[in-house]
Amino acid sequence: MSADYPTMTTAEIRSAYLNFFKEKGCKLYPSSSLVPDDPSLLLANAGMNQFKEYYQGKKTMKEIGACSCQKCVRTNDIDIIGADGRHASFFEMLGNFAFGGVTKEQACAWAYELITEVFKLPKERLHFTVFTDDDETHDVWRDLGVAEDHITRLGEDDNFWAAGPTGPCGPCSEIYFDLGEEVGCGREGCAPGCDCDRFLEFWNLVFTQFDRQEDGSMPELPHRNLDTGMGLERMAAIMQHKSSFFDGDVMQSLIKLGEEISGATYVDDDYSGASRSLRIIADHARSVNFLISDGVLPGNEGRGYVLRRLLRRAVFHGRLLGIEDAFLGRFIDAVNDVMGEAYPNLIENAALVKGIVSAEEERFSNTLNNGRVYLDEQLAALAAGEQLPGKAAFMLHDTFGFPIDLTVEIAEGAGHAVDIEGFDAEMAEQKARARAAAKGDAWGSFNDVWTELSDELPATEFMGYDHESVEGARVLAIVVDGARVKTAEGGVDVQVVLDRTPFYAEMGGQKGDRGLIDSDSGQVLVRDTVSKGGLYVHEGTLSGTLSEGDTVFAGYDLERRALVRRNHTATHLLDAALKEVLGDHVNQAGSLVAHDYLRFDFTHFEALSSDQIKAVERLVNREILAAKPVVTRVMGIEEAKASGAVALFGEKYGDVVRVVSVGEEDRPFSRELCGGTHAANTAELGLFKIISESSTGSNIRRIEAATSAGAIEWLENRAALAEQAAGALKCRIDEVPARIASLQADVREVNQKLKAALTGASSDAISSAIEGALDADGYKLVLAQLSGLEGSELRNVWDTIRQKVSGPVACVVATVTEKGTPALLAAATDDAVSAGFKAGDVIKEISAHVGGRGGGKPTMAQAGGKDASGIPAALDAARALLGL
Ligand code: SER
Repeated sequence: MSADYPTMTTAEIRSAYLNFFKEKGCKLYPSSSLVPDDPSLLLANAGMNQFKEYYQGKKTMKEIGACSCQKCVRTNDIDIIGADGRHASFFEMLGNFAFGGVTKEQACAWAYELITEVFKLPKERLHFTVFTDDDETHDVWRDLGVAEDHITRLGEDDNFWAAGPTGPCGPCSEIYFDLGEEVGCGREGCAPGCDCDRFLEFWNLVFTQFDRQEDGSMPELPHRNLDTGMGLERMAAIMQHKSSFFDGDVMQSLIKLGEEISGATYVDDDYSGASRSLRIIADHARSVNFLISDGVLPGNEGRGYVLRRLLRRAVFHGRLLGIEDAFLGRFIDAVNDVMGEAYPNLIENAALVKGIVSAEEERFSNTLNNGRVYLDEQLAALAAGEQLPGKAAFMLHDTFGFPIDLTVEIAEGAGHAVDIEGFDAEMAEQKARARAAAKGDAWGSFNDVWTELSDELPATEFMGYDHESVEGARVLAIVVDGARVKTAEGGVDVQVVLDRTPFYAEMGGQKGDRGLIDSDSGQVLVRDTVSKGGLYVHEGTLSGTLSEGDTVFAGYDLERRALVRRNHTATHLLDAALKEVLGDHVNQAGSLVAHDYLRFDFTHFEALSSDQIKAVERLVNREILAAKPVVTRVMGIEEAKASGAVALFGEKYGDVVRVVSVGEEDRPFSRELCGGTHAANTAELGLFKIISESSTGSNIRRIEAATSAGAIEWLENRAALAEQAAGALKCRIDEVPARIASLQADVREVNQKLKAALTGASSDAISSAIEGALDADGYKLVLAQLSGLEGSELRNVWDTIRQKVSGPVACVVATVTEKGTPALLAAATDDAVSAGFKAGDVIKEISAHVGGRGGGKPTMAQAGGKDASGIPAALDAARALLGL
């Protein structure tokens, strides 16, 4: 077919779509993070994810609807990626959404207007599908001018859309573009829904009107909703007169890079071999980049596993293309070049993403070779058509880090299936770690008491930034053993929700407060405060009686909070100091702020040297000694970012945020977005001391540290240990190092003397062996069994024998080492060798007696073994061998 419509770039399509819907009154929402707020959803997989509460009627939108360009990751079809022109793990979804404010007629009319008037797609190439008996939508399209033979009815598989097994769902209508007869199957009746490539679905309009329940029933939602999703890459292919997801401008720029690095050639209609690998790398590199910059780190479960799997598959396909060196970093740059403008957080996190990618790539390259050898061996041992056992697949996963689909792919290449059931059973046995990852339900069911409570009760008002206690707070709910109760009585563990509280609930790493809730009739000794869906939950033991509606006093433990505050400020100083000493790739990856210590995890790829640790410590202490004010200001998120405040990697923030700065307003040492509580001045921290530095897994280092009372206590303990050491050495503390050095020198000397006594001329055992030397034909033979010597020290024994015996001499000596294992040595002077003694042969012959094996040259040979009780038999065997 000829080019009968205009051409547009991906960027032009994106903005044309969003502008169109903005002009129609829809509010533009930025893409949500790939890491959803919904704990039941692994990764954002559709534009509608972030609007869940609007569909369910829990929130209402002022505007008539919304639009967005959402980054999405779907890996359920991972094995098809690259083998056709439609599937990918990462894609952008252009969507418009409405929650009662837009009728079906209106939604379809907008869609029709956009594609025919803005994108100017020829009407004769547009096809529409509707759900089997959805006459209403059929008529809407017809009335808009679509010919009857361009409307197809399809069943549940194609034209009913649900985010998950339960939750909002509804019939849908898809829009297809006819790529032309020449790309199709040519069969009569080929139409949308056919499995050939002729009709490319590019827009799905879901009329979300039902709320599917666990029992399968589908009550209507509070209003009729709209959820549409247009695949941006598919649309780019169409608008660039191509037929595949991978042939639009963005994907092509990545595929070109793959061609350049590998020397392979991409053929757009070849869906196997090198072309497939080039597509896979281009696709997976985008997922990897977007996932890491949204805060996902490679791991063995959940999102971390999805990421690791994609990253490793990309590396593996690089190998298939003959790329030996690390290459993914170049793809990260290339993705940023074409997508960084639309997604600035890619650029912000580029250094970090590249660091993680290259560390992970290196790690995997090392295991790839070993794993490949193992897998090839396993495959070679299989009969034709036999399955690779689940155990082997699990071994590859567990020991070599091969994602299962990589194993499947290689095994299939060699003509073998994989026993997936067996693999799953092995995985299940190794605890339930992958279980969380397997749940793909976009809605999930939050059935515990806290789901209902957080829905019913207003969010707790937190008073604790500037109140130490609150009088007259009201008890809104009491939970005992997971169930809500109206009244609780003495001695039980309770969870209490108040309308307002000064207690800080554990968040952002800062531990929850302890303290006291007190009413006329009862008291709760609060052990911990946690946050559940906006509610602050006080956990503790009740004495007396407490009822819903009671008025209480609530006050936290001041001393403990003061210590926590200092440690929290210290984590900010530490973060800033680490960035200064190590570089900008340092990002907070987790933290714990307790009263007695703090823990700070951050991205960095190797252990810190002691000089680096010292430099970090000094920087933090410099800020403490400078007694700088710690100032918290509340501002809009954009203002906060503009002021240079550090946002936590992968963290989501509301529109209004707290910004904590340490030091001068115009040039702060540290400025972070933070909801925690802090010291008023760095001087309160007193002293900062790093207690340990370690690794917590790939690419993450962990520092534990203490301030003020905790640091002093740590130093006191250290000082006590030093006193103890000095006491034991009977010297002053400052003399300890020298004292230890001199003791070590003494020990070395004594050891040498001891060894000399055992192996040298003064050794009784050796002297008597020499005295008892046997006369062989042309040389003397010394046989001896010694003990307490190591195998290596038998050479010294031989040196002694050689010195003390003049003329041709040979020996066979044995020892039982300190570990209790036997060691044998045979040796001979050159003239003893000429006379017929071959040390190597002797050892070979006799070592079996000690359960060992050995050999060597005619002049010197050694053996180890397992069974020291065989030494006398070995010496006898030597004698017999030499005819003595
Ligand atoms: N949620 C639908 C889809 O993912 C339409 O946006 O296809």
